[in-house]
Amino acid sequence: MDTSETISRTAAKGSSEDFLPLKNWDHIEFYVGNAKQSAFYYQYAMGFKLTGYSGLETGNRERASFLLEQGKIRFVLSTPYHPDNFMSDHIKQHGDGVRDIALEVDSAESAFIETVKRGAEPVMKPTRIEDDNGYIIRSAIKTYGDTIHSFIERNNYKGLFLPGFVDASAKAIKGIKDAGLRSIDHMVGNVELGKMNHWVKFYAETMGFSQLLSFDDKDISTEYTALMSKVMQSGTGKIKFPINEPAAGKKKSQIDEYLEFYHGPGVQHIAMNTTNIVETVSELKSRGIEFLRVPTTYYEELESRVGKIDEPMEELAKHGILVDRDDDGYLLQLFSKPIEDRPTVFFEIIQRKGAKSFGKGNFKALFEAIEREQAVRGTL
Ligand code: FE2
Repeated sequence: MDTSETISRTAAKGSSEDFLPLKNWDHIEFYVGNAKQSAFYYQYAMGFKLTGYSGLETGNRERASFLLEQGKIRFVLSTPYHPDNFMSDHIKQHGDGVRDIALEVDSAESAFIETVKRGAEPVMKPTRIEDDNGYIIRSAIKTYGDTIHSFIERNNYKGLFLPGFVDASAKAIKGIKDAGLRSIDHMVGNVELGKMNHWVKFYAETMGFSQLLSFDDKDISTEYTALMSKVMQSGTGKIKFPINEPAAGKKKSQIDEYLEFYHGPGVQHIAMNTTNIVETVSELKSRGIEFLRVPTTYYEELESRVGKIDEPMEELAKHGILVDRDDDGYLLQLFSKPIEDRPTVFFEIIQRKGAKSFGKGNFKALFEAIEREQAVRGTL
C-alpha cells in the first residue's frame, strides 16, 4: 500500500470553533434543459423516485422543478420557462449542470453571517419561506464558477421538501426498482489552473473546513495528463469537497477538457454510496448507464495490491469495479461516463469498507481509461 496518502485525523474533528456546523447534504439542484425528460432518466436509469414537483400547476410561473430521491439523496432538476434570466444563461453556458450544493444547517442566518463575514460572496440573504406545513429559512453564498451553496434551515418545516413543492408520487413511474444508492459521499469541483489553492483557502477560512488529503501531479499523472487535488472536509466531517485543478501534461487533461466544455469551473462528479456495489452497478448497467472500463490486466495485480477482500474477484472484473486500500480498510468504486452530451458531469458509485480515502491507487488506471475516451472525443 502507498502510505503517502495520509489522513490527518486530528485537524478534522468538530470543535467549538466550528462556526459553520453543517448537519448534512440537503439537496443538489441541477439546472437542465428539460427537467421533465431528465426526471425520466433519473427514474428509469438511476433508480430514483419522483417525489415532488413545483411548476405552473402549483403557481410557479418561473420554473419547473422535479424532486427525485433515493436513500438519503435528493436531486432537484429545474428548467426555466422563459429565456431572459440567469437560469437560461446558466444552461446556455454550461449545459446541464449542478447549480446548487445545498447544505442543511440549524441556522441559515448564522451560516450566512459567519461565511459572509469571512469573505463569502452573498447570493441570497436569510429568507423565511413558508406554506401550510411550516417554514424554512434559506440563505446562499457563491463558490467556484456559477456554483452556489444554499444553507437550508428546516427544523420548523413538516412538509414534503420545501415550501412550493407538492407531492408528485402519483406521477412517479410505477415499478421502478431502487438501484441501492444510499447517500452522497463527496462532490468534486474542477477549477482553473492555479485556482485550487484559492478555493482550498475559501473552504478553510470562509467555511471552516480542514484539509483531509492532498494529491499532486506525481500522484495523479499518466504519460499524458496530470492534475492536482486537495480534499476539504467540513468541521462535522459530513461534507467532503475535493477540488481539482489541471497540471501541465503532454496533452490536454480531463480537467482542461471539462473546463473547455463546461465553460468554466463547476461540479465534476458526485460520488454516491451503496452498500453493495456489485448489485448497484449491475442494476445501473442493465438500465443503460455506461461506466469507464479499465483493462483486464488491472485484476491480475489487484490482490497483491489490496490483499484479501470479501467480494469475488471475478464479479469485480466482470463489472470493471475498482478497489483501493488505506490504513482504515478498503473501498470499491466505479465511475460513469459523462451523463450528458458535453464531457462534463459524471457519477461515482462507491462502497466504503472502512476506507476513508478516495482511491488514489486507482488514479493511474482510471485516468488512462479516461484518456481512451478523450481520444475518441478528439480531445487528446
Ligand atoms: Fe470521487
